Amino acid sequence: MSWSFEPAVAFRHALAPKDRERIPRYAALLAAWESSPLAGEILIAAPATQRNPMLMLAALHFEARHGHPQLAELFRNILHFEPTAWASDVHQVLIGEPDLITRHLHRRTQTNEIGRSASYHYILRSLVSPTEDLHLIDVGGSMGMNLFPDLVGDDARLDTDPLRLVCDVRAAAPLRADRYRVSRRTLVDSAPLDVENPDDRDWLRACLWPEQPERLARFDAACAARETWPDIETIAADASEGLRRALATSVSARPVILNSWAMAYFSADTQREFAILARDAVRHGALWISIEHPLLVTAADLPPCQGEPWEDGASAVWVAEKDSERHWGYAHPHGRWIQFVSPVGPKA
Ligand SMILES: C[S@@+](CC[C@H](N)C(=O)[O-])C[C@H]1O[C@@H](n2cnc3c(N)ncnc32)[C@H](O)[C@@H]1O
Repeated sequence: MSWSFEPAVAFRHALAPKDRERIPRYAALLAAWESSPLAGEILIAAPATQRNPMLMLAALHFEARHGHPQLAELFRNILHFEPTAWASDVHQVLIGEPDLITRHLHRRTQTNEIGRSASYHYILRSLVSPTEDLHLIDVGGSMGMNLFPDLVGDDARLDTDPLRLVCDVRAAAPLRADRYRVSRRTLVDSAPLDVENPDDRDWLRACLWPEQPERLARFDAACAARETWPDIETIAADASEGLRRALATSVSARPVILNSWAMAYFSADTQREFAILARDAVRHGALWISIEHPLLVTAADLPPCQGEPWEDGASAVWVAEKDSERHWGYAHPHGRWIQFVSPVGPKA
């Protein structure tokens, strides 16, 4: 993972341009941190693989949700504040209490964005046949929320259902199936979170952006829905070891290896090792879908991206199946839109 070691640059590029418009108060705080030596020192104090400004924002959000006297009000009513005033007030609190963040630097940005299931659902429908049994293996899957694209991607959900995922198709792929069968679901993560553990749920809520209350509502709805959704298997292990173990259990179903905003957090060695293992599984019939930031997964040596993404800050989508590994297209980092650009296209 190569988060920038220059804090000002890391703060400047932490949000995609469109997201800066969507969450102006977080954007203003990140902008204030660009010229703050204190914020820079805090970021550098994080472990190398976690030098991510989002970890700092999540720490403050966590403290706010746990009743910090000033932060609680600033975060609860965030949408009522003018962005620069909000950022300045939060930064003043941080100057007085840097420990509000430093005490959380052992944690990880584990945001489990269910919106990405909309991307997985669409991509799967373009690649698999309706008759095969699939074994979904989500590597770096956090709490496993993206192991249910078949259930959550259902278009029949009402507009008022917080779990209704909306994904604009910017350039359509030929679809092979309306539905597909998932018979097994495995979460692999070096620090998996448990949907039944209240502390784990709290941390993931803090990782969400408070200016987007709909994502919080969706996360809570997904936590509740998990009681009725099929059980998952959890493998607590580093990516390669975990994938190896998950594949060993995949006897009758076709393995589908998923990773979204996960490989970006692996070390370069782990990215390389994981990619070798995934490619080997593909040669034996697995399907591998990666949704990652192209600049952060270079060690995996994925095929070059084709065409232009519809929006800056897009995630790239790659797929590998038996006789091809290719750049499939682009997706919004939280699954708001998807764009098929592959020059090859899915197999007929
Ligand atoms: C930003 S979260 C992404 C979660 C999920 N894939 C999603 O799209 O919502 C990154 C996850 O990768 C996991 N992770 C980081 N390094 C890892 C490694 N070397 N092996 C396995 N998991 C790892 C973290 O624990 C974290 O849960």
